[in-house]
Amino acid sequence: MTYRLFEGKQHASSYWKYRIAPSDHLIQQVLDFLGKKKGGPFDLAVDVGCGSGQGTVLLAKHFASVVATDVSPAQLEVALQHAQEPNITYRECVAEELPLADGSVDLMTAMSAFHWFDRPRFLQEAHRVLKPLCCLALLNYSIEMELSFPDCCSQTLNQVCKQFYDAVQPYRSTHLGPGSNSIELYREAYESIPYPDKEWNDCVWVKRSMPLSSYMGLVESFSSYQTLLREDPQKATQLSNNISQRLMSVMKVTSMETEVGVAVKYFYILARKPEEA
Ligand SMILES: C[S@@+](CC[C@H](N)C(=O)[O-])C[C@H]1O[C@@H](n2cnc3c(N)ncnc32)[C@H](O)[C@@H]1O
Repeated sequence: MTYRLFEGKQHASSYWKYRIAPSDHLIQQVLDFLGKKKGGPFDLAVDVGCGSGQGTVLLAKHFASVVATDVSPAQLEVALQHAQEPNITYRECVAEELPLADGSVDLMTAMSAFHWFDRPRFLQEAHRVLKPLCCLALLNYSIEMELSFPDCCSQTLNQVCKQFYDAVQPYRSTHLGPGSNSIELYREAYESIPYPDKEWNDCVWVKRSMPLSSYMGLVESFSSYQTLLREDPQKATQLSNNISQRLMSVMKVTSMETEVGVAVKYFYILARKPEEA
């Protein structure tokens, strides 16, 4: 079954506008792992579940070509408008059946996407298309992001954020497993990958500064909030207005355009297909 929760045009454009992409430092960690046994130049990266392409563009300068795939035409349309580097090609397809030759890929990434896939089938597909000694990188972040603002008690600020995360939790897809983030699914996947050369990293903070309105745009792009919005638009809007007002009150500001610090906790898996597999 494919989970098609990212199809709305508005949802897709909010992805490009608000979603956080990995930092250059994080992408460098992935490239360093790849480069340890596989010297450059790197030919082909494939970004699966690319969404609106904000992570895909980070790969473009390191590879001769990048293929970015997604099942959602709306997401791909936004990606084509914004993430247009000449060496990126977009393909509409499911993650579990990629239009790629056996042993053709240097790096396969899934950024905030692997948890939506049929994970065992996707891992088999990755194994089929990766070249020997080449790598799979599965990145994701916890939805519990932390805000900071000068002269403001972070704990009080983040208690308000937590109320938002708790309120949308019941609308989270059961496919993502229990809890507020999918880290356990990634741990299970990590254990199941039969490659001896693999790494599990469960805490890399990526920090960004953005207007408070963009932080709200980001948390409203979560599939759980979007489900609430579809089921009960009034409740969703009330929740968003209430949290926005309370955050401004704690920060003692009156504009949603006030810049705040947003810290996002990434976790990721790197795994290298053995030479003889
Ligand atoms: C949470 S978004 C992440 C998008 C982007 N990679 C990012 O970093 O923001 C997950 C994406 O995976 C796609 N997706 C979900 N299940 C899929 C599947 N089985 N095959 C291909 N794409 C899928 C969705 O359409 C969506 O664009």
